[in-house]
Amino acid sequence: MKFIYILLFFASLVFANIAGIPNDYEIKGRFAPNKECVRCHLDIYMEFKQSKHKNTNILNNPIHKAMFKTNPLSKQNRYTCAKCHSPTSKNINDIAKGKKLLNNKNKEDTQGISCAYCHRIESIKQHNKEYKNIISKQKLRYFSKRKQILDSPFHDVNTTNQQFNNGNICLACHTQHTKEKNLVSKKNQMYCVFSNSNDKGENKNNNKQNCITCHMPQIEGSLSDRLDTATHAYHGFAGIGKDSFMLNKYVDMNISKSGDGFDITITNNSTHDLLLHPIRGLYLKVSIQKDGKTVKTFKTIEFKKETIQTKQKPLSWLECSLSYKNTIKPKQTKEYFFKYILSKNDIVTAKLLYKQIRDKIAKKAKLKKAKFMLFKEIKR
Ligand code: HEC
Ligand code: HEC
Ligand code: HEC
Ligand code: HEC
Ligand code: HEC
Repeated sequence: MKFIYILLFFASLVFANIAGIPNDYEIKGRFAPNKECVRCHLDIYMEFKQSKHKNTNILNNPIHKAMFKTNPLSKQNRYTCAKCHSPTSKNINDIAKGKKLLNNKNKEDTQGISCAYCHRIESIKQHNKEYKNIISKQKLRYFSKRKQILDSPFHDVNTTNQQFNNGNICLACHTQHTKEKNLVSKKNQMYCVFSNSNDKGENKNNNKQNCITCHMPQIEGSLSDRLDTATHAYHGFAGIGKDSFMLNKYVDMNISKSGDGFDITITNNSTHDLLLHPIRGLYLKVSIQKDGKTVKTFKTIEFKKETIQTKQKPLSWLECSLSYKNTIKPKQTKEYFFKYILSKNDIVTAKLLYKQIRDKIAKKAKLKKAKFMLFKEIKR
């Protein structure tokens, strides 16, 4: 009898191995930590590690920390930012209420927008004036777009979730920033991180063009060390300040002669405003070169996201209901005239430069001036 029990015991071990996918209780905490993914998805992990989604909160992002200090909520330690900036935090609700602080010693607090968090967003929901990510309950089933070839020994995969596959799952975090006091001005106003003022519906995520196709393009290299695929979705999350070469094709610039000078046009072919975050700045710098020397520099034009109405309007589904000036709307072209008679050997150089944080705001937050980064350059 004893022998049979022993046999059964070993049989059950073998069976557990064949069944493959381990049970949820093996994951401590609410989400599998990023390091669990490393052994089979090293390339994707390395990209993610360099991305803005990794260092997102007051423990590891100095700009974020400084901006939080300028926010009245910081005096009560009410770190409501955690909802988007540290969604896997252990005590997220108490942290938002000011009852607990983020803590370097909790691994959950340093994961950023983690692999498992993002891959478990099932849908998004509007609740009062906020958007919310609905997280699936299964800790080891991940949403993804690509048809599966192999079984993963670690997790299950679900490839049929439309909200995931068309990028809508990016929007709860990216649409609205904070309804608490503004980060930039003292006025009690709200702004949206993501915004567009295009009423033709060209802004909507669809299967052909969406947040994923532009910001996570397929690049060379396999998606897992255990499988050979020619490409995988880029997990460095291209932005204006990072890997801008992946994005600058969506912004057209053109120089043309016009009357007693020349015009420069900028067309925004992305599906959202040219600048999304109000602390950022984009700069058009134009100069003339002759025989290798700069002979003329024009006044810099600054783009930034400034609210037109300060009165808060209710949010409608996946829309930012505020309007902004001093940015370029999706599918909009802005034209700038420069008075200067061009002679034969003159070369016009137009540069779009980016600052992660504008000087005025950096000063307010007691941060060093940010460096200019080149987004796009054209010559004629
Ligand atoms: C023991 C190895 C292993 C570990 C650990 C692992 N994966 Fe995977 N994963 C795989 C394999 C193999 C595939 C390939 C499945 C396919 O596409 O055929 C895969 C595929 C995926 C896919 C894409 C599925 C598809 O086909 O579209 C996602 C998303 C994913 N893994 C997420 C994760 C995350 C998040 C973690 C960490 C929490 C993780 N994986 C840890 C082996 C692993
Ligand atoms: C609804 C989600 C959400 C909430 C809540 C939120 N943020 Fe953000 N925040 C974002 C997103 C998305 C970005 C990235 C946007 C971009 O780069 O265009 C961002 C970017 C930032 C940046 C720029 C970071 C950098 O590295 O350049 C700062 C600073 C920032 N947030 C501060 C805060 C503070 C402080 C709070 C809390 C008072 C807060 N945010 C609350 C979603 C949110
Ligand atoms: C057609 C391509 C395209 C699509 C679709 C697209 N983007 Fe972008 N995105 C860009 C380009 C180009 C830039 C850089 C210039 C700009 O801000 O428009 C950018 C910039 C950004 C930035 C950084 C902006 C800043 O000010 O720091 C964020 C964040 C972003 N996009 C998020 C999203 C999200 C979320 C979606 C889906 C709802 C999305 N994008 C859809 C092309 C695209
Ligand atoms: C901000 C959300 C987000 C984060 C964070 C994230 N992913 Fe993804 N991941 C996606 C999306 C969206 C796709 C689907 C892209 C596609 O198929 O074009 C994807 C695709 C994948 C794939 C399949 C790649 C392919 O080309 O089909 C794997 C594997 C994967 N992710 C693993 C990971 C791992 C491992 C991490 C952490 C190191 C991670 N992801 C972090 C959103 C995310
Ligand atoms: C849990 C909330 C959350 C989700 C979901 C999310 N993001 Fe983000 N994203 C953020 C935050 C917060 C930042 C800013 C991080 C920082 O700099 O501190 C950010 C930054 C970015 C940036 C860098 C912007 C820049 O200024 O360079 C890009 C691009 C981006 N996200 C694209 C996406 C895409 C595409 C998806 C969907 C596949 C997505 N995000 C899903 C919260 C989120």
